[in-house]
Amino acid sequence: MADVSPFWAAVAVVGVVYLIKWRTNPLNSIPTVGGSSLPFLSFFSAINFTLNSKRMIMEGYKKYYGSVFKVPLLDQWIVVVSGPKMIDELRRRPDDELSFSESVADSMQIRYTLGADTEDDPYHVDIIKEKLTRSVPAILPEVIDELTLAVPQHIPAKTDEWLEVPVMTAMQQIIARASNRVFVGLPVCRDQEYLDLSISFTIDIVKDKTIVKFFPEFMRSFIGRISSNVQSTLYKAIPHLKVAIDARREMMEKYGDDWTDKPNDLLQWIMDIARERDFSDEAIARRIMLVCFAAIHTSSNTVTHAIYHLAEHPECLQPLREEMEPILKEEGWTKNAMGKMWKLDSFLRESQRYNGIGLTSLGRKAMKDVTLHDGTFIPRGSFVVAAADATHHDDSVYATPDVFDPFRFSHMREQDGEGTKHQFVNTSVDYIAFGHGKHACPGRFFAANELKSLLAFIILNYDLKLGGDGERPRNIYWGLNVIPAPKGKVLFRKREASV
Ligand code: HEM
Ligand SMILES: *[C@@H]1O[C@H](CO)[C@@H](O)[C@H](O)[C@H]1NC(C)=O
Ligand SMILES: *[C@@H]1O[C@H](CO)[C@@H](O)[C@H](O)[C@H]1NC(C)=O
Repeated sequence: MADVSPFWAAVAVVGVVYLIKWRTNPLNSIPTVGGSSLPFLSFFSAINFTLNSKRMIMEGYKKYYGSVFKVPLLDQWIVVVSGPKMIDELRRRPDDELSFSESVADSMQIRYTLGADTEDDPYHVDIIKEKLTRSVPAILPEVIDELTLAVPQHIPAKTDEWLEVPVMTAMQQIIARASNRVFVGLPVCRDQEYLDLSISFTIDIVKDKTIVKFFPEFMRSFIGRISSNVQSTLYKAIPHLKVAIDARREMMEKYGDDWTDKPNDLLQWIMDIARERDFSDEAIARRIMLVCFAAIHTSSNTVTHAIYHLAEHPECLQPLREEMEPILKEEGWTKNAMGKMWKLDSFLRESQRYNGIGLTSLGRKAMKDVTLHDGTFIPRGSFVVAAADATHHDDSVYATPDVFDPFRFSHMREQDGEGTKHQFVNTSVDYIAFGHGKHACPGRFFAANELKSLLAFIILNYDLKLGGDGERPRNIYWGLNVIPAPKGKVLFRKREASV
């Protein structure tokens, strides 16, 4: 027996610490959904939540609408708010009270995975918000040029038979290539090894932060350094970017700020700013990969959802084509044309409402003790999110919310007259798939144009339908993540496009 006693002593110590922690947990005053906040039991609740998150957040939303509840993630409690007043409050609170970047930094363990620099000086956000968004009309033709090459390569269907295509992997490849056309330009955007690295970088961050989070704070910097998938992918990516970086450096040395045919792309915008900061190949490549992390899986998941919906509702193909053909004949493939496609815009927005990239958005970390307008006390260090999916499936906000109604938003716009309100890019307290307020996704204007161009090209050049059992491939809900069926397949058949 003597050899087990140290074990039991350890268990007793852990138990006591756990109990004290629980008794003093300042979140105790916030109601829990889905099980128990009792010590030990909360671990099982966390597993239950991970598997049944969508249902459990909806349960909390209904029970505590307009207020707060908490749910257990595998590694921490998270406070969920709902209702327009609470969402408005999250968006308005300054960053020194409820911080967006600290919440991302913590959930991705940015300091230990990507390095502190990208967190302390997030200049890429301004580049996306200003340069990229303003350049959409100028760069969209290039994106479309890339799409017309990449789509047939990844959907090689013929006119006389149906071809089964794994949608998610095809969309990742197509989006990575089209996006990288404006991130790093030709010829790097066609370098398959580079593209695969830019896609897997997201997975690397998720892997690294999962490992790092197992360890206590004081060990994380060490663990981050020895087990870094991020760093190894970054080192593999640098040689692929090196020729372009060197060429730009040379021009910058020779001509300064401006020269004829200066590239209008993310790499150049980054280098223009990096020149005054860390101008190493590694720092430049890291920013590029960071933007790929924010842009590629978000966009490819969103369009994968839309394609599953399109295959489930092939009756939408005709009205969508009838809308886009005359517009494209008159305007060509331009941003203006995309702006006029209300039905297509509605289809994407409805698909995003129905699914979304996560069950929650507007994630914030409390930097100090905060008291919300209804008196709810949020202690320093807590994580707060808004119930996006539950808001988007609330029947007092959207009629028949569990029905996929492709032209829901274009009908709303017609009723409003000109109606700029219900476009894919517009955020509000009722539509928070891109967040809302000053940290709402700055890439959404680019994403909307890229995704509409991609869908328009697919809709005009292919017929599509569900295969197999005729059911839309099912989403995976894992904790707060919403993932379109990774192995879902759709049948494609080539058709002759008239524009
Ligand atoms: C359909 C595709 C996309 C979706 C669904 C999406 C969604 C989001 C969401 C939900 C947020 C956080 C907002 C919040 O919760 O308050 C966000 C932030 C962000 N997104 Fe996107 N995003 C998409 C595409 C992109 C693209 C293409 C880029 C870059 C070109 C991008 C760059 C960013 C950046 C840099 C942030 C952080 C903003 C900040 O630090 O203030 N996103 N995105
Ligand atoms: C899991 O959560 C659901 C929803 O709250 C609840 O009904 C169920 O009893 C829970 N299951 C377990 C094993 O705790
Ligand atoms: C919707 O977004 C568009 C594009 O940014 C903007 O011009 C318009 O004012 C927005 N409308 C509303 C009601 O927010």
